[in-house]
Amino acid sequence: MCGIVGYAGVNEAAPVLLKGLEKLEYRGYDSAGIAVLNGREIEFAKAAGKLQVLRDLTEEGATVHGRIGIGHTRWATHGEPSDVNAHPHVSNSGRFAVVHNGIIENYQQLKAMLLGKGFTFLSQTDTEVIAQLVEYYYGKCGDMLETMCRIVGKLEGSYALGILCADQPDRFYAVRKDSPLVLGLGEGANLVASDVSPMLAYTQRVCYLDDQEIVVLQADNVAVYDINGERIEKEVTVIDWDVSAAEKGGYEHFMFKEIMEQPQSLQKTISPRLQDGEIVLDDFHITRERLEDFRKIYIVACGSSYHVGAVGKYVLEQTTRIPVEVDIASEFRYRNPIIDEHTLMIVISQSGETADTIAAMREGKRQGSHVLAIVNVLGSTIAREADDVLYTWAGPEIAVATTKAYSTQLAVIYLLALKFAELLGTMAAEERAAHYQALQQLPQQMESLLAEKEEIQFMASQLYNKHSIFFIGRNLDYAVALEGSLKLKEISYIHSEAYAGGELKHGTISLIEQGTLVVTLATHDALVDKIKSNAEEVKARGAYLLAVAVRGDERMAEVADAVFYVPRTLPLLQPSLTVLPLQLFSYYVASQKGCSIDQPKNLAKSVTVE
Ligand code: AGP
Repeated sequence: MCGIVGYAGVNEAAPVLLKGLEKLEYRGYDSAGIAVLNGREIEFAKAAGKLQVLRDLTEEGATVHGRIGIGHTRWATHGEPSDVNAHPHVSNSGRFAVVHNGIIENYQQLKAMLLGKGFTFLSQTDTEVIAQLVEYYYGKCGDMLETMCRIVGKLEGSYALGILCADQPDRFYAVRKDSPLVLGLGEGANLVASDVSPMLAYTQRVCYLDDQEIVVLQADNVAVYDINGERIEKEVTVIDWDVSAAEKGGYEHFMFKEIMEQPQSLQKTISPRLQDGEIVLDDFHITRERLEDFRKIYIVACGSSYHVGAVGKYVLEQTTRIPVEVDIASEFRYRNPIIDEHTLMIVISQSGETADTIAAMREGKRQGSHVLAIVNVLGSTIAREADDVLYTWAGPEIAVATTKAYSTQLAVIYLLALKFAELLGTMAAEERAAHYQALQQLPQQMESLLAEKEEIQFMASQLYNKHSIFFIGRNLDYAVALEGSLKLKEISYIHSEAYAGGELKHGTISLIEQGTLVVTLATHDALVDKIKSNAEEVKARGAYLLAVAVRGDERMAEVADAVFYVPRTLPLLQPSLTVLPLQLFSYYVASQKGCSIDQPKNLAKSVTVE
């Protein structure tokens, strides 16, 4: 989704903005632009296409002068990706420039009002309305802070905005509502950005802005105001990621680097929380009494985070015996879910900024549920609004296709399930101890599995030209199949579906033809014979069978064309290992096909619109 960066400092702004936008490229975009205050007026450049087009247009920023500026990568919502629809949008007089992430829901009413006042519009975007609205209110009051307060009162929807005013050549303005915006406090440079990655080169001191907070940034000063124009103080957080955490570090793709980082990420997520044979969860306030009071658990999330929830349903029901429903966030609040104070809602999100998940969480809170969030990005909206937060210490995840965030989310689900089981007394102490031990062994088992990546690479080289692929599994393997299928289609553009093994013959089996690839997950010990029968059914209709099984279990070898073996762990934890060959397979298939792996077409890393 759109990325914003703004800079006020002692250096030329344009190269800083271009570098910052490069860090935000991973979010997904189709055009880019920058605007800079040169002392007397605003200079700007924008273009459809990749950042390189803008780099060439501005000769790496050399043609746009000034030390205060704003930049933007656009992921089209209103109007096609084009030069004219790219941000920044400049007001009719040329005195104001605006970059925007989000959607202005009442832009048509505002546009009609502004057209009536004589304003004209060049683009099809909702954002251009903001540029003219700023000009309109500034013309009325002549004060930029008051103008900011007024536009916040008028705009409906979601926004993170960076705004330049030519009358104030030493500063720029920013504000957010329901779209992410972080403030960075450096030495001789203050910045805003959609996330911390563009500012790590300048500072690790950041402030997370709350809704409708207005910021005025100068090179040597930052002031934050509320919607009434009253000054407010913000808490400063020091980020412990360094620049290298968000760099490729010699790998060809972020996705591959992130796949290979999973043992360390898992270690970081688990180790501090397993102390002397006990699970110690930070920022977790659910007592035994409160837990006993929950009659239902909802897990709500989108995409891969939802797939972690699908595993979580099996795991939490097994360990707590509390009924669990897993819901897609964009559906949840529109189906009038039954929520009350006896409901625990677990929301899962890597970014903590997914618009649908935020909206579902707010609905859950409004109706009285307790919200526990599993989040990767520190200080994100979900992390700040949930009642309890458990962070996945995966570090920055840059590839659009999630891997290490998925694994660490899963690890947090396990920790939570075992903690709940301990509080509720639903699992014998020896069984819990066995799970703690097995959890601690996972990073090392992952390590040994990843060392066999060439085997998967070879399989991918034989199978990458398939047009349609099915993933099947039962129980936890079905939940993992959902993720394997999504991973493959999002980066390789191969059509793929995941099915519960027993469900195929109720319709989908009609799609199986000679040579159709069916990836069969057979790592759930208790159901291997069942899934083997389902595999036989598709094999009999011509499918090519690639199986994933647990080392030492030879049953699938009797039917499959090829088997990849994963190390054995306890059944509930097995998804942590089963998912790895699927991530690698997707990666190698996409690589064989020459796809844009880190930034697949049409996709965005952080989906900040509904
Ligand atoms: C997974 O590879 C995706 N890119 C996507 O499905 C993602 O998991 C989803 O958009 C949810 O994002 P979140 O975890 O940041 O909320």
